[in-house]
Amino acid sequence: MPLAVWSDRYVTGIPEIDAQHKRLFQAINRLDAAYREGTEETEAQESLAFLARYTLEHFDTEEALMRAIGYPMLEFHQKEHADLMTQILAMKAKLDGGFQVPLDGADFAAHMANFAADWLAHHINEADMGYVQFAKERQPGRP
Ligand SMILES: [Fe+2]
Repeated sequence: MPLAVWSDRYVTGIPEIDAQHKRLFQAINRLDAAYREGTEETEAQESLAFLARYTLEHFDTEEALMRAIGYPMLEFHQKEHADLMTQILAMKAKLDGGFQVPLDGADFAAHMANFAADWLAHHINEADMGYVQFAKERQPGRP
């Protein structure tokens, strides 16, 4: 069973955002699998590197969308994004820094995967749905 399980309650109705969220779930599961399957430490590093890159890309998309619709909570939402990026990059730096025992890296990947899965689920339901609702009210008839 994958760690991050997609569910209808995460659907925003905005196709680009939903596609990106699903891809983030996959990226988290890849990182989690790197730990569970005891793959090479490089796989854990690469999964985390991908997660960091793709999260940044996704946040850029969301922030551009919020800007475009004049979402009043943009600054607050951006801060949540920035806080997560800080944590991901700090963990990435640690993982890239190398570990004396390979398993340390795997444990670390597991910790990061759990943290990211939990963060994403809450963030979508609590923060993202805010701009989604705002976008719907702004543009009736659009998802
Ligand atoms: Fe967001």
